[in-house]
Amino acid sequence: MLSWDDEVTPVARPAQAPQPALAPASSSASHALSPNAQMNAQLTNTPMNPALVAKPTAAEESRRVNAADKRIINGQTDVNQLVPFKYKWAWDKYLAGCANHWMPQEINMQRDIELWKNPNGLTEDERRLVKRNLGFFVTADSLAANNIVLGTYRHITAPECRQYLLRQAFEEAIHTHAYQYIVESLGLDEGEIFNAYHEVASIRDKDEFLIPFIDVLTNPEFKTGTVEADQTLLRSLIVFACLMEGLFFYVGFTQILALGRQNKMMGAAEQYQYILRDESMHCNFGIDLINTIKLENPHLWTAEFREEIKSLFLRAVELEYRYAEDTMPRGVLGLNAPMFKGYLRFIANRRAQQIGLDPMFPQEENPFPWMSEMIDLKKERNFFETRVIEYQTGGALNWE
Ligand SMILES: [Fe+2]
Ligand SMILES: [Fe+2]
Repeated sequence: MLSWDDEVTPVARPAQAPQPALAPASSSASHALSPNAQMNAQLTNTPMNPALVAKPTAAEESRRVNAADKRIINGQTDVNQLVPFKYKWAWDKYLAGCANHWMPQEINMQRDIELWKNPNGLTEDERRLVKRNLGFFVTADSLAANNIVLGTYRHITAPECRQYLLRQAFEEAIHTHAYQYIVESLGLDEGEIFNAYHEVASIRDKDEFLIPFIDVLTNPEFKTGTVEADQTLLRSLIVFACLMEGLFFYVGFTQILALGRQNKMMGAAEQYQYILRDESMHCNFGIDLINTIKLENPHLWTAEFREEIKSLFLRAVELEYRYAEDTMPRGVLGLNAPMFKGYLRFIANRRAQQIGLDPMFPQEENPFPWMSEMIDLKKERNFFETRVIEYQTGGALNWE
């Protein structure tokens, strides 16, 4: 295939055909150059005609975006102009998300398939755990994607943050793809897994808790601009980042990664490890977004609002704990539901502190310190003793 810069060898023409004058006869310097090279030389050497240089009028100049005028919500600046940057943290996260790019099919699922098909490969409790786990996740990331694309995105007026949300939305699609890929690889009953969010109480209760906070943002009638509406948006952002991505995912992540630590379901565990890395960034982005909105709109952060958020945290911990009990009615993989009670309280304390609330539970220790290390893949070169994958897509998985 030719590119614009390739030399093109002219096709031989019949002797009588007129030859086009491609090169100006007077230009001795360009004589030896091909037509393409001549054109490039002209483009780069010709001084710009001053009449063609756009000069803004004073009125146009005054309409130009001033970074200081940008706002995360209710901003009046042009959302189509990414620069000048104001929220560099959002742009940096967008770049980091791109650098972490991965695709589910790049991970070999063969050992998982063999283990799943082997009647003695996994216990009944382990199989239940995997199915209940996927039962939550196969729809959770579609909820997340819809929340971003149909809800959050249009209410955010900072283009740097919108840029990250676009990247995040695609990552949610990759996660849904990953879960589907695991379901398909293992030959699970798709009807059972994809309907679990309607049919399994512990999963349905989590989703029913979340959905009203998503629906309010996707409602076409909803607009920010009043204290009440802005608090509604802020509340939904907190539920999404701190409780959905920041809490409701963690029993599930811990379970599959615990399987991987015991050399079981290594492909699935590797998929989850990449998802965990992405989700950790989504959660951190959401927390930066929330804190910047608070900074720009301190009047939203009333005592009453804080109390309401606290009660949502307590409810979410309870729901996630019930999910832990349902997925692990007995101890499995050295894990049991009561261990998760401590873990969920530990995470909830951390999320609360990240958005400026006091911890809600007395000093909780992290019962799974290895999970913190999992989030930072860089430390985990040989955790599963899998090969280091070099992504064809250019995603830099830097193990150094
Ligand atoms: Fe996700
Ligand atoms: Fe996410």
